[in-house]
Amino acid sequence: MVVKTNLKLLKKQAKKSIIGSKNLQELNEVLKEYFGKEGKLTLILRSLDKMSKARRIKIGKEANGFRIFFDEAFSKKKSSLAIAFLGRSPATGEAESKEKWIDITVPGKRPELGHLHPLTKTLRQVEDIFESMGFAVVLGPDVETEWYNFDALNFPKNHPARDQWDTFWLKTPDKLVLRTHTSPVQVRYMEKNNPPLRIIVPGDAFRHEATDVSHDFQMIQIEGLMVDKEISAANFRAIIGEFFKRFFSTQGGSASGGKKEIKIRLRPDFFPFTEPSFDVSITCLVCGGKGCPICKNNGWVEMGGAGMVHPNVFKNCGLNPRDWQGFAFGFGLDRLTMMKYKIDEIRLLRSGDLRFLNQF
Ligand code: FA5
Repeated sequence: MVVKTNLKLLKKQAKKSIIGSKNLQELNEVLKEYFGKEGKLTLILRSLDKMSKARRIKIGKEANGFRIFFDEAFSKKKSSLAIAFLGRSPATGEAESKEKWIDITVPGKRPELGHLHPLTKTLRQVEDIFESMGFAVVLGPDVETEWYNFDALNFPKNHPARDQWDTFWLKTPDKLVLRTHTSPVQVRYMEKNNPPLRIIVPGDAFRHEATDVSHDFQMIQIEGLMVDKEISAANFRAIIGEFFKRFFSTQGGSASGGKKEIKIRLRPDFFPFTEPSFDVSITCLVCGGKGCPICKNNGWVEMGGAGMVHPNVFKNCGLNPRDWQGFAFGFGLDRLTMMKYKIDEIRLLRSGDLRFLNQF
């Protein structure tokens, strides 16, 4: 029997047959045609030992090349047939049923990738900065008792100061509130932990008030508390100076970040739980201090309240005010975020509007 050894020609024919196979059955026939018992390549390999040495080397090499080519082309075709015929009979290629049929050649839909909300971004930055200054991040409950939200913080009973915080009262007999600020966590923490201590408390706070461009009924506050033997308002000024400098110069900061000095203004204020108390404002970064609705045209935006911890608060936590001194502050994360990204409307932050969110 004359064995055809024109491997170039065989390769051409095999390629045509593999590509032309309409289903797995036809493809297996091609395999048999070349590698079966009497297959074209099997016969060539079998006749090698009858050849001269030089010819054996030449044909052996070509046969090997053919095998490599065949293997690759075969498995490629096999997997493409297997996928394309999902839900079809492998023998006939006919669709088995309409329900089973999946057209895997239709280009897929790219899933939309989400990203962090601007408030989450700034919250993480705030936490990073304070943690690097030795503050621990502590959390407290959103639903509070009247005691922690007001009484323990030295709000006198029936005193108008209680109205300063427009409160959402829950319809429960035990007078629970949606906390109006994060300050109750000062008390919760000092009840259980002895000074010296440094904490920040990020969390939601709620106010039953009309909204405008810089007020919402829900906001995130960042409470801060540092207590030790000798803590003064100067320590507070230094810590927040460092905080604002770093917060507004980190990535994503507004144009003012890094280069322009952020001006900080402390003015006397009143809170029942601090004495003395301050209002903390910074130059409005939305308008650069020129005046806009956010800063009510005066160039300054209130970031938070602060002060030296009131002796009665220490007493309510079981600490002796003669032994300890401390400062506390409560900043609005929404306002910090607005200043950082020059957002001129607070209500956009919780609107869920993708046209807004996609800008971050
Ligand atoms: C307080 O809530 C005090 N607990 C802060 C404090 C803590 C003082 C510790 C002293 C010691 P105030 O109501 O001013 O204070 O709110 C603090 C900050 O929260 C405001 O400066 C503002 O940045 C933010 N904030 C308050 N109300 C709203 C609101 N309705 N919408 C958006 N942000 C608000």
